[in-house]
Amino acid sequence: MRTAELFEPLVKRLPPETAHRAAILGLKLAPPFPAKRPDPRLAVAALGLSFPNPLGLAAGFDKNAEVPGAMLRLGFGFVEVGTLTPRPQPGNPRPRLFRLREDGAVINRFGSNNEGYDRARARLQRRPEGLVGVNVGANKDAADRIADYALGVKTFAPVADYLAINVSSPNTPGLRDLQRRDALDALVARVVEASEATAPRRPLLVKIAPDLDERELDDILAIALTRRVDGLIVSNTTVSRPPTLRSRHRGETGGLSGRPLFAPSTRLLAQACLKLGGAITLIGCGGIEDAETALVKIEAGADLVQLYTSLALKGVGVVAEVLDGLARTVEARGVASVAALTGTRAHEWAQS
Ligand code: FNR
Repeated sequence: MRTAELFEPLVKRLPPETAHRAAILGLKLAPPFPAKRPDPRLAVAALGLSFPNPLGLAAGFDKNAEVPGAMLRLGFGFVEVGTLTPRPQPGNPRPRLFRLREDGAVINRFGSNNEGYDRARARLQRRPEGLVGVNVGANKDAADRIADYALGVKTFAPVADYLAINVSSPNTPGLRDLQRRDALDALVARVVEASEATAPRRPLLVKIAPDLDERELDDILAIALTRRVDGLIVSNTTVSRPPTLRSRHRGETGGLSGRPLFAPSTRLLAQACLKLGGAITLIGCGGIEDAETALVKIEAGADLVQLYTSLALKGVGVVAEVLDGLARTVEARGVASVAALTGTRAHEWAQS
């Protein structure tokens, strides 16, 4: 922990992709630091699993499952690795990651650069202590995209606590079309079938984009319920560009994450929460940067939450900031646990 904090000011001055690589290497090389003891009031039961706290690391930071153990020791209640594709792929040409500091945001167009299923699976054979989800995708040049996802479920079921199906990355051409009703139904049917053939069967989640209208959301929810998906992650990055953006990189192509994503992704989450009425697990993601924003996500309907951009912009201190703040809220509100706050302001956020 100390080492990580010591190097952070230096890392933040590097070009963003180099900074990210340096952070991963630093975490790999740092001597294992002891984990902080979790506050029992932050524990959440969801997906048939016991989460020590509701704050997870979102997909994209540890694409290749290099440092899940270190991230869990930093305090995250769970870590989602990936997105992984069957074969390694280089992603888009650099530069492909941009900091929008004035906006508390990032734009990325990585295009699912990753080392492929086999290398990640080999790393995950040594399971870290704690919960690890694996986010799977399809190769850019896949002949049968659905087969890629089904293979991902089969490959990672033995080493993952849950599996997330990424149909919402804006950086693989055509990928988000898999969210449309017929395509999604075919995909989910095959993936559920693949999942049912694995032992053990792991919880399956679908990660969706924030750029959906209400009809598209309804279609996704109907499929999730009929095909018995275990949960949704709401949401991935947005292709929209709010007029409020000020940074010079605001015109870059790619997915926008961080503060400007908070309101739209929270609204979609709240709508999903009201329509589902607690039927499946919701992971809220998009623009969490402190305890207040994490709390709002939970009140809007999230059972669990995830962040990435604020970790990149603010550093590892954001984890303790969120967890300590949530524990204080539980205390101040006089509730038994953080789970009691889920969905308590969903109506308000769904109409925001
Ligand atoms: C991401 N995100 C992402 N999501 C995913 O499902 N697979 C991926 O490979 C990636 N890669 C990725 C790279 C970078 C640089 C960023 C910033 C984001 C999306 C991420 O998991 C999350 O859904 C969004 O970024 C919204 O959360 P934050 O970042 O606003 O907390």
